[in-house]
Amino acid sequence: MDHILKNISTNNLTIGVVGIGRIGLPTALCFAEKGFLTIGIDINTKLVDEINSGVYPLKDEPEFDKIFEKVIANNQFSSTNDVSSSLSKCDIIILSLPTPMDQNNIPNYSALLSVGKNLHDFIKSGTLVIVESTVEPGFIENELIQVIEGNDNRHKRNYDFSIVACPETANPGEILSDFKKLPRLIGGINNTASEITSNLYKHVFGVDTLLLPNCKTANAAKLTANVFRDVNIAFVNELSLLFEKMDIDILKVLDACDRKYNFQTHYPGAGVGGPCLPVNSYQYLNTARKTSDNVLRIIEIAREINENMPRHTVELLTDALNEIGKSIKDCSIGILGISYKPNVADIQLSPAKDIIEILDKLGAKIKIYDPYYKSQNCFSYVVDSSLSDTVDNSDALILVTAHDEFKKIDIKSITQKMKTPVFIDTRGIIDMDLAKNTGIIFRGIGRGFSK
Ligand SMILES: NC(=O)c1ccc[n+]([C@@H]2O[C@H](COP(=O)([O-])OP(=O)(O)OC[C@H]3O[C@@H](n4cnc5c(N)ncnc54)[C@H](O)[C@@H]3O)[C@@H](O)[C@H]2O)c1
Repeated sequence: MDHILKNISTNNLTIGVVGIGRIGLPTALCFAEKGFLTIGIDINTKLVDEINSGVYPLKDEPEFDKIFEKVIANNQFSSTNDVSSSLSKCDIIILSLPTPMDQNNIPNYSALLSVGKNLHDFIKSGTLVIVESTVEPGFIENELIQVIEGNDNRHKRNYDFSIVACPETANPGEILSDFKKLPRLIGGINNTASEITSNLYKHVFGVDTLLLPNCKTANAAKLTANVFRDVNIAFVNELSLLFEKMDIDILKVLDACDRKYNFQTHYPGAGVGGPCLPVNSYQYLNTARKTSDNVLRIIEIAREINENMPRHTVELLTDALNEIGKSIKDCSIGILGISYKPNVADIQLSPAKDIIEILDKLGAKIKIYDPYYKSQNCFSYVVDSSLSDTVDNSDALILVTAHDEFKKIDIKSITQKMKTPVFIDTRGIIDMDLAKNTGIIFRGIGRGFSK
């Protein structure tokens, strides 16, 4: 890999990024902007065509659009679905492939394993492979490397190729700023590969790097940071159920705790979704199952608590409707927000899906508004094109995602347009005193309410 080390500072290397989605495309754009010839490789032909015709696809990562225009115009970046011819041109291959889980919550690494076979067939000698995808500790060492080596001794690890884990830790919606400030976790199968990757990422992103002893430690670091959040959110979700019965507002409690220097605030809500946190907890549970007889009990219980929050949200709704002698059946219920987190267009594993399914079974008439999905078909419903379409004449509203647009809601005027002023706030964005003074029938997760 001497040629890689020598050519980093002059950008005289070809970089292939396999998987140019939410994480892979911004990564590829940064390499191209720095001056490396960069190829985005993806099986999604529509995405590839869109990119090559100059259409920037990640509308909710707006800061990258200018970089995109620049690197497309100066031919530093192009994309393709021709895996075979492109991989053999690359000095460095970055894998940013999806690592979802199946219906039984078992992690699915089929994209990485299938590209691993392509790497076996097509890489040139001396290639550096960097795995940015989030995988379980041990997956690279025990599964991926074997697939790249194959049975025919064509490529030998450490001689013909090296592999490094550099799990991505950026947050959707904030990717550009995270790329520039978060230290990179780097753990390779040999020290040279780790050092080269460290040089490369410092050069491209201008960030600090943390060199870890091997791939599995880097992958464990990534998982631990995310699962920490899943577990702590479960903690405040569980407290929420208690506080609601005691008329204690969890936001007041958390605000007070936050004054202590060693407290780290997490907020309760309708559930924990997205492609990362829930999957990462199940990745750890899977690792524990394969490695020992012990399950990771805290993580298992945290998942159970967080997965119950959509059901609890519907219980709050039922309770609020009871107050005015209504039941969910045949009521018009407006869902405000379906993204799993604020201000991004991403509904992967969103708790909104579970809430909608439960309400559906209970016979509710559902309407949805989300500024990121206007007029699109989501969860078997067409999302309304305006907030008022969802609000007007509804029996109840459930705020599921704290998009900025909803933070500006004037609760008084909005509830005046409803048939009955029932409002369930799962994200703590409504001032409870204000809500009570306006005479609305309000419930919030962990907010406590005296009737
Ligand atoms: N989205 C996030 O918030 C985030 C943050 C940090 C890390 N990650 C991790 O980064 C990885 C990528 O996540 P993402 O959100 O960018 O996924 P994504 O679904 O947005 O993008 C993945 C891309 O890979 C392509 N792809 C799938 N199979 C392929 C194959 N066999 N060959 C070539 N291309 C293929 C898809 O078409 C898609 O464009 C995952 O491991 C994820 O856990 C995601």
